[in-house]
Amino acid sequence: MSEPRQILVTSALPYANGSIHLGHMLEYIQTDMWVRFQKLRGNQCIYVCADDAHGSAIMLRAEKEGITPEQLIANVQAEHSSDFADFLVDFDNFHSTHSEENRELSGLIYARLRDAGHIATRSVTQYFDPEKGMFLADRFIKGTCPKCAAEDQYGDNCEKCGATYAPTELKNPKSAISGATPVLRDSQHFFFKLPDFQAMLQQWTRSGTLQDAVANKLAEWLDSGLQEWDISRDAPYFGFEIPGEPGKYFYVWLDAPIGYMASFKNLCARRPELDFDAFWNEGSKAELYHFIGKDIVNFHALFWPAMLEGAGFRKPSAVNVHGYLTVNGAKMSKSRGTFIKARTYLDHLQPEYLRYYYAAKLGRGVDDLDLNLEDFVQKVNSDLVGKVVNIASRCAGFIHKGNEGVMVAGDAATELTEAFLAAAPSIADAYEGRDFGRAMREIMALADRANAWIADKAPWSLAKQEGKQDEVQAICAQGINLFRQLVIFLKPVLPVLAADAEAFLNVAPLTWNDHLSRLENHQLNPFKALMSRIEPAKVEAMVAASKEDLLAAEAKAPAGNGELAKDPLSAEIEFDTFAAVDLRVALIVKAEAVPGADKLLQLTLDIGDERRNVFSGIKSAYPDPSQLEGRLTMMVANLKPRKMRFGVSEGMVMAAGPGGEEIYLLSPDSGAKPGQRIK
Ligand code: 2FM
Ligand code: ZN
Repeated sequence: MSEPRQILVTSALPYANGSIHLGHMLEYIQTDMWVRFQKLRGNQCIYVCADDAHGSAIMLRAEKEGITPEQLIANVQAEHSSDFADFLVDFDNFHSTHSEENRELSGLIYARLRDAGHIATRSVTQYFDPEKGMFLADRFIKGTCPKCAAEDQYGDNCEKCGATYAPTELKNPKSAISGATPVLRDSQHFFFKLPDFQAMLQQWTRSGTLQDAVANKLAEWLDSGLQEWDISRDAPYFGFEIPGEPGKYFYVWLDAPIGYMASFKNLCARRPELDFDAFWNEGSKAELYHFIGKDIVNFHALFWPAMLEGAGFRKPSAVNVHGYLTVNGAKMSKSRGTFIKARTYLDHLQPEYLRYYYAAKLGRGVDDLDLNLEDFVQKVNSDLVGKVVNIASRCAGFIHKGNEGVMVAGDAATELTEAFLAAAPSIADAYEGRDFGRAMREIMALADRANAWIADKAPWSLAKQEGKQDEVQAICAQGINLFRQLVIFLKPVLPVLAADAEAFLNVAPLTWNDHLSRLENHQLNPFKALMSRIEPAKVEAMVAASKEDLLAAEAKAPAGNGELAKDPLSAEIEFDTFAAVDLRVALIVKAEAVPGADKLLQLTLDIGDERRNVFSGIKSAYPDPSQLEGRLTMMVANLKPRKMRFGVSEGMVMAAGPGGEEIYLLSPDSGAKPGQRIK
């Protein structure tokens, strides 16, 4: 046997100012499954995380709630910890970036970078809120877009026209915090000299540490030259004051990844067998993996390795990047009830259902993962209940009734036994490579074979026949042995199912290598149902409760204020507003692809008295646009014309569906004439 590996694993640190939702859980569940796999294999694998507790958002939220930031982050940490525990995410430590360990390590790393000449200082001119007495980050400034004149846009980009700009270009700027007109003010800032690490990063990002797609994206940034990174913020700020620089604080993203180290250091104090230096010093033999979403790659694959290198610590062995979660084919939506908080899910459904579904759909890449709620019910019921648990429930009764719960010796299906043994290395490879989807497919293929074999042997028929008792016992003991192997293979994904199965099987906690052995002449415990089917009504109740979460949040933060108000479907409209929409029957005269646009079709529409040019994002559903020509549809004819890169769009056609191939253009009944209005 090779030496056990020493592995330290992290998931991104969640901000301490909001609830965990199913999008977050995609990351924590996949990391947890990987860690559990490593532990099952006998490796020393440590999984640490923490709340990301600093920054102005947290400071302002606490202020709004009338509590101190310390109270806010303590409340949120308690909520996060129980959400994770109830989803069976088994951190070795869940700490906080607002901790003594993190203060010390951040100070140490900063001092080492400064002493090695990697910190620059210079004056920066920024908007300052004179009422609130603080500098304003871009997202705390609102004003009129300098490009399209849309009002109420953030300081760095326009949601209407997509333009990006400097906050100083915004017309009529206002502080989103106090409403005051901000003034420009200078302040001394500290910069991390990232360009010092250009050559190292060029090499490191191409050394197998990153998925190809991620390395390619980074190459674009590296090729266009790295910028120095502003790591300081002025008071008032909730964070660590920079040692020796009164009134200056470390920017939250400086001490956030150091929070990984700090959480581990905090754990070392409780677990004497763990040596902090052995994991973090330059030249460490331990492996270090960060699991993150694709939105924070630059922090983890540029700034972080550069900081570690500059401060004389080891760099990550790999950064594992995943895509976003969509629900029913679209971005999670509060009004549709698909913005589902971890707690809302747990109030209605078992955590292992979701763990399995995520596992079944996760690959090694950075593609988004869709949680389709119908498919979720169908897949979990069919695979876990219909295939895996079914094997045990089919066999256990006969062993209890016919042989007092004792499994007989002997291999009743050597070919199947061989197949299960032969599949194990490939399943292990899939887990190791984070190709959970492949692992699940291979496991379910084994479950299918086991079920087919049992169905073929039909112990339930034999049991009714004279003199077939031995055969029945041999078949059922074999079935339970195959079930036991499936449980071992699924244990990283389904730890509770595995524990319940271990209790039924009357065995010590199973490890990966236990799949090599069989149970023979072995006493079982009484069988209890190991998993029940998902009732679709529970899923519906969860969606309904998520809509209620929205209403509760709106009651706390009335519309007109912040993110919630932006979801158009959350608001009721007056009849007059509806009546103001000019809905018309439109004949599609011409439909063609738009060169240079992935998603758009250009439509020429006849609405009776005139023709309209409309760009519509429906190309994915109509790869051959000519099929639309001659067809009637519905359009909004009085939508303000919109200037796009390809021309002006003069209205909008109406379509429904989750997206991709599933976009359905609306049609009137036959007999309708172009130009007719809905009345
Ligand atoms: O994007 C986020 O949610 C951050 N709180 C992640 C921090 S990860 C690490 F660097 F601390
Ligand atoms: Zn704009």
